[in-house]
Amino acid sequence: MAKTISFHLQKGGVGKTTISGTLACQSALDGYRTLLVDVDPQGNASSWFLEAAPSYELADVVQGKCYIQDAIVPITQVPNLFVLPTFGIGGTLKLYSETKLAEEPYVLQDLVKEVADAFDRIILDLSPGLGRLERAALISSDEVITPMTPEVFSLDGLEIFIDELQKIRKNLRSPVKHSRIIINSFDNRIKQHRDIYTAACEGVFTVYRIPVDPLFRKAQEAGVAPQLFKVRGKGLKESTIEAIETLNKDIWR
Ligand SMILES: Nc1ncnc2c1ncn2[C@@H]1O[C@H](COP(=O)(O)OP(=O)(O)O)[C@@H](O)[C@H]1O
Ligand SMILES: [Mg+2]
Repeated sequence: MAKTISFHLQKGGVGKTTISGTLACQSALDGYRTLLVDVDPQGNASSWFLEAAPSYELADVVQGKCYIQDAIVPITQVPNLFVLPTFGIGGTLKLYSETKLAEEPYVLQDLVKEVADAFDRIILDLSPGLGRLERAALISSDEVITPMTPEVFSLDGLEIFIDELQKIRKNLRSPVKHSRIIINSFDNRIKQHRDIYTAACEGVFTVYRIPVDPLFRKAQEAGVAPQLFKVRGKGLKESTIEAIETLNKDIWR
């Protein structure tokens, strides 16, 4: 049965999509059947890996308009990688989360269970915020890992998330684990980044760092897995590759 991991902090722009997508690619490149579920109504992960809108999306599955198997798309550039997409245009997932989802808080959990035997690993890419949709995604995960950027307010954001997650666990009876954080876009030359990393390490979390690497954005613009993308023969920095591999090795254990 697949382990399910989501990457979440209520803040936007911290690297949820970048890390979800990159780790999904890494896991698939290592030979594991990996499903990336795009739970963000903006559909960034889907537009990263898919050129055109396929026939069905996540919103269709949760509304019973198709079977989950009909909506899952194989990503040909990365063998073993599959996406359950969301398309921002039309806003169907957003509308569903604002209307029907209140009556069905366990809908994503049920859906993950349905495909857990068909995959080795499942990754959920979440939207910012801590509304119904994000809560439904969090409780369908075995573990949530928090990415954050090394900024002044990040540690406050983490505190808020820890507090909210505690309530979600209690109210929705979820055992979701939360023991790792990732300081993303880390630059060792910047004192503030080093200070935030040191402060983060003082807590109870295992702390990882992913270096700032402009190749991520370029790979996303080109619609390619970062591990396969090159600009004038150059790919991800060696330190970035090392960070991704370490993280990928640890989180699925
Ligand atoms: N390690 C990194 N180095 C450089 N740019 C990054 C890195 N991680 C993410 N980015 C860029 O930051 C922006 C926001 O990242 P994204 O993954 O979309 O955040 P979120 O999903 O949390 O909103 C994107 O343009 C992405 O390419
Ligand atoms: Mg995102």
